[in-house]
Amino acid sequence: MIANLEQFYFDQVNDLYSAETQLLGILPQMAEDASCPELREAFKNHLQETRTHCERLNMIRNRLGISDQTGECEAMRGLIAEARKYLTQTIPGGLRDAVLIAAGNRIEHYEIAGYGATRAFASCLGFGEDAHLLGETLKEEGAADAAITKIATGGVFHSGVNEAAAQFETAPA
Ligand SMILES: [Fe+2]
Ligand SMILES: [Fe+2]
Repeated sequence: MIANLEQFYFDQVNDLYSAETQLLGILPQMAEDASCPELREAFKNHLQETRTHCERLNMIRNRLGISDQTGECEAMRGLIAEARKYLTQTIPGGLRDAVLIAAGNRIEHYEIAGYGATRAFASCLGFGEDAHLLGETLKEEGAADAAITKIATGGVFHSGVNEAAAQFETAPA
């Protein structure tokens, strides 16, 4: 049972930590799978940032005395499983970049929601340093989401993308 907000906050910090460590596993593949150089760069940059996100959460976990990981973030596991499913159904190129953008946006929005709520809990509980660290990560998640969206609206989804996708579909594997 979770008896109070502090315990729920501990749980949420652990959940975010699980989500971030799962992302460390897929972001290198997402970067490798991207054909658009800017998209590849965005995923590489975010992989670097994600390592920092894990470090920040570890600082919080150490302060709270959380030493081991309990439970897995099932939502992130689902988002990653869905991304992998679509990646196996597409070949590299514009269409796969669209898959990566859709998956990236979903993942970032999930993280933004998680960090936003958890930072609010930290503030409520008077954990000012935690709230600051969580806020730093929250800003980076927002920037990563904006970067992916900018790439999508600035080039990957342009007129003729369906024709290009049709060519990919008929191209030999
Ligand atoms: Fe993150
Ligand atoms: Fe992220």
